[in-house]
Amino acid sequence: MGLVKERNEMEGVTKRRVCRVCESKKMHRFLVLGPMPLPNYFLKKEQFSSEVSYPLDVYFCENCHMVQLLDIVSPKIMFEEYYYTTGSSAPMTVHFNELAEDTIKKLNLKKNALIVDIGSNDGTLLKSFLQKGFKNILGVEPAKNIAKLANDDGVRTENEFFNNENALRLKEKYGSADLILGTNVFAHVDDLKSFVIGVKEFLSEKGTFVIEVPYLLHLIKNLEFDTIYHEHLSYFSIQSLDYLFKKYGMSIVDVENVKSHGGSIRVFVNNTDVKSEAVERMIDEENKMELNSFDTYLKFAEEVQNLKETLRKLLKSLKDKGMHITGYGASAKGSILLNYCKIGTETLDYISDTTPFKQGRYNPGMHIPIVPEEEFHKSPPDYAIILAWNYADAIMKKEENFIKNGGKFIMPVPKPRIV
Ligand code: TMP
Ligand code: ZN
Repeated sequence: MGLVKERNEMEGVTKRRVCRVCESKKMHRFLVLGPMPLPNYFLKKEQFSSEVSYPLDVYFCENCHMVQLLDIVSPKIMFEEYYYTTGSSAPMTVHFNELAEDTIKKLNLKKNALIVDIGSNDGTLLKSFLQKGFKNILGVEPAKNIAKLANDDGVRTENEFFNNENALRLKEKYGSADLILGTNVFAHVDDLKSFVIGVKEFLSEKGTFVIEVPYLLHLIKNLEFDTIYHEHLSYFSIQSLDYLFKKYGMSIVDVENVKSHGGSIRVFVNNTDVKSEAVERMIDEENKMELNSFDTYLKFAEEVQNLKETLRKLLKSLKDKGMHITGYGASAKGSILLNYCKIGTETLDYISDTTPFKQGRYNPGMHIPIVPEEEFHKSPPDYAIILAWNYADAIMKKEENFIKNGGKFIMPVPKPRIV
């Protein structure tokens, strides 16, 4: 494993002392997953010795019930060079196309509307708007290499982190935004205050802010602990989002459930103070699930520990029978799962993955080789553990032949099982 330094003297990590939403000091830790390497940093062999692991501890705020990480790995380390491109994920490309279609309809957007995507990655979402005739678009993307990809591809992109200060500058340059999107970026933001105030300032009077974030309710219900990693600083419930936006004079006007990342929510926010029935209903459900009680999280942590033991036992019994096992899809979640459960090359021959960048490299921490999917087809294992479980249906459909020929898939969450 990588270099592990003392918690408080770690370079590149700052420790937050108060809740990210309400600034309360009453924070309680309920889960320790680290020390953990950054799950998206697929390594070359020569990088093994300089690999760094960071704390990955999860806290509950007694005051506003927000679930969050308090050890913040420097955004420079995490986002300035980024290896994940949205466009390389076919399901996400389809998802973003639907998001564009739905928001255009729902918000009745005019063709000249200024549409801003924060954390726009390679411009995949904005390309969907372009294709539908919306030309006034702007991406904001902190990763230099990825912002360049987007610009080269004709998606106007500013290479910077979004915050209040930058928002004012962007407004000066481009005018007010009619729609600001933040998909899978809001949970990455440490300084939510600056971000939300920036959005509020940048939005036109009737503008809408649309975010998509993984939903805490699903995380808890489905034991999706492997979606917890350093980039995801916040694990939102409607309750905590409602608290946050109200604090800065904004309102959640609608919420929809979406499928991506094991169950996310699409949240519509604007500068009015309209009350939404959907919001009330979902908060009721959260209270029924006791998302506001610390005991819920202690129980969750216990179940995570049990999952680790069950999965390790299952894999060991298969190895004892001489079975070949591989990993399918070198997802970030997979890195968390394998590191937390300490599953390495003694168990998995390789992890197959379709992403060219990952192929020929090794997964973080456990250093399992990543190979192209062709390898999986050429010499199929007896069992393959689905590490990109959010795509399980698509994967099992695609790998019909593997199953027909006697191959079996293992689903790691919420309960390790052979399918
Ligand atoms: P992500 O969930 O962190 O985006 O990672 C998903 C990974 O799974 C990504 O590297 C691509 C890979 N993958 C495959 O290798 N084969 C597939 O059929 C699918 C759907 C994903
Ligand atoms: Zn709080």
